[in-house]
Amino acid sequence: MLQKIRTLAAKYAPEFIEIRHHLHAHPELSYQEFETSKFVQAKLKEQGIPFEIKATTGVIGLIEGKNPGKRIVALRADMDALPIKEENDVIYKSKHEGVMHACGHDVHTTCLLGAARILNELKNEWEGTVKLIFQPGEEKNPGGASLLIKEGVLENPEPSCIFGLHVHPGLPVGKMSFRGGKVMASADELYITIKGKGGHAASPHLCTDPILIASHLIISLQQIVSRNNNPHNPTVLSITSFQGGTTTNVIPNEVKLKGTFRAMDEEWRFKAHDLIRKMATDLVHSMGGEIDLLIDVGYPSVYNHETLNEATRRKAEEFIGEKNVEETEPRMGAEDFGYYSQEIPGCFFRLGVMNEKKGIISGVHTPTFNIDENAIETGIGMMAWLGSSIEIKE
Ligand code: NI
Repeated sequence: MLQKIRTLAAKYAPEFIEIRHHLHAHPELSYQEFETSKFVQAKLKEQGIPFEIKATTGVIGLIEGKNPGKRIVALRADMDALPIKEENDVIYKSKHEGVMHACGHDVHTTCLLGAARILNELKNEWEGTVKLIFQPGEEKNPGGASLLIKEGVLENPEPSCIFGLHVHPGLPVGKMSFRGGKVMASADELYITIKGKGGHAASPHLCTDPILIASHLIISLQQIVSRNNNPHNPTVLSITSFQGGTTTNVIPNEVKLKGTFRAMDEEWRFKAHDLIRKMATDLVHSMGGEIDLLIDVGYPSVYNHETLNEATRRKAEEFIGEKNVEETEPRMGAEDFGYYSQEIPGCFFRLGVMNEKKGIISGVHTPTFNIDENAIETGIGMMAWLGSSIEIKE
């Protein structure tokens, strides 16, 4: 089976590199993936793969092998692009001004389409069912994954596990990397308004200075990370925007702060929200101000099921050789794959796309991000190999 998948992945790679060029040239922002969705639907139709639409642009395909009920596996790709103006000088450069596939979601979609083709072609040779999830809106709250789950993507049939791959611009092409347990952070947004009483800067005793209150608050909030959190528990609290005042001799009425809170433990995450609310409210009140505080709850952390991660890693070793499989580092970035991994065992892994010799080294979310396209053959083959053979054993 593995040899057949390898052969087909190599055979179809050039065609799917063209598909990636098409997707890359026609990027669409989160929840607006209308043409991308139609393109994916057309490709599945060509192969006679049945699908349904969820969350407006999501495409959910189903491929049944032999004994379709024996094992049900979900493979996920995200389809949305970012509001970035592409600076790459390539023939497949974005045709949509100010929109770019700068996070490799064109590659993820391509790999899943390629895997679908192989799995469909070999469906008399593997057992079980593969659910293909082409999802919208990974880059933007509330996250396409959460919308799809609400619309029942993990039911009828219910997959026992789910896989997602993500391009990794720091990992050489031909390699993949894995990690079990906590791999990515939750991301919640903080919006704080501190209301004081403005006036002449020469008469601070007649004012309540929101700039001073906000300054104390920014420093105090760091105590939550340094004094309330277990040092072994990765957490980030950053105030990233401080807006207030206009000139040198006026104390303003209010200050607005924005920030991000990231964590890897769901229990601590919500405990920390309470601590942030209490500290902010008490401190601002103690200094005579008023406060509006909103914590906009974003994606949950991504948890890779340990046993499943081990099994997936072994599949990768079989496919590309042990020396090409690495342990990946945890990151405080967020991914809406976390919604799936809260519901069923999941494994989110990395596909190497870097090639220093070719100068392909730019990070994701930059205007010069690109991949070594040899990664597409690896990505297609790996997804097909997982879809046809992975089993979860407790
Ligand atoms: Ni991404």
